[in-house]
Amino acid sequence: MLDKVFKNEVLKLYQAENWRELLKLNENSDLSCAVKLLWVWPSEENLRFIKKIVEDSGCKGITSIGCGCGLLEWIISKSTGLHVIGYEINREWWTSKYSNPQFIKLQYCEKIQEGMFNSSHALLFCYFNNKVAFQDYIRAYKGNLVLIIGPGNGKGRHTDPEPFDPDFGSSRWTLKDYNEVKDSKDFIAVYTRCIKDSIMYK
Ligand SMILES: C[S@@+](CC[C@H](N)C(=O)[O-])C[C@H]1O[C@@H](n2cnc3c(N)ncnc32)[C@H](O)[C@@H]1O
Repeated sequence: MLDKVFKNEVLKLYQAENWRELLKLNENSDLSCAVKLLWVWPSEENLRFIKKIVEDSGCKGITSIGCGCGLLEWIISKSTGLHVIGYEINREWWTSKYSNPQFIKLQYCEKIQEGMFNSSHALLFCYFNNKVAFQDYIRAYKGNLVLIIGPGNGKGRHTDPEPFDPDFGSSRWTLKDYNEVKDSKDFIAVYTRCIKDSIMYK
């Protein structure tokens, strides 16, 4: 499908707030034009997994870093009812006429600093690709739940952090659970802060 036709279909369903039909546009996760809006197209089961893990951990929402146009974040908020916010860099690009349309109101990371995140939110990285920035964000985050979406073995793509081999820097985290995105070899990996670390932040 042509990029423009696909984008228009997405926008129509977004305006109609029909996230279910919107997901069906790339149900098999095989359209190259879909990646230009979102790297990983979740199933309804994946969305239920995210809702359960976030709620069971006592979190009230999700803060997504490097959210791009915010399509995933919009889908999560509409389908789960969770409060979702998204951060990007490069305000100039995202407010230019060349950028993709945005599905949520983007926040911009002008400076990474302690206290910038709501610690009752989980932190989400989907196809993030900047190890140094990842570690800076983790240092600034005082909550206990991190979700990493990215390629598993055999996918033939690289992200940093990778879902099963993230380098959290100086803090300690444990893999709590994971869920494959359909049968795409992309995974949602869920990390919780190790007890020793959480005591330090109390
Ligand atoms: C591969 S894209 C993934 C976008 C989106 N999460 C998705 O899955 O479609 C990585 C995104 O991270 C953003 N990014 C890179 N470095 C960043 C940083 N230091 N802070 C916030 N966002 C960053 C880029 O601008 C880009 O939109």
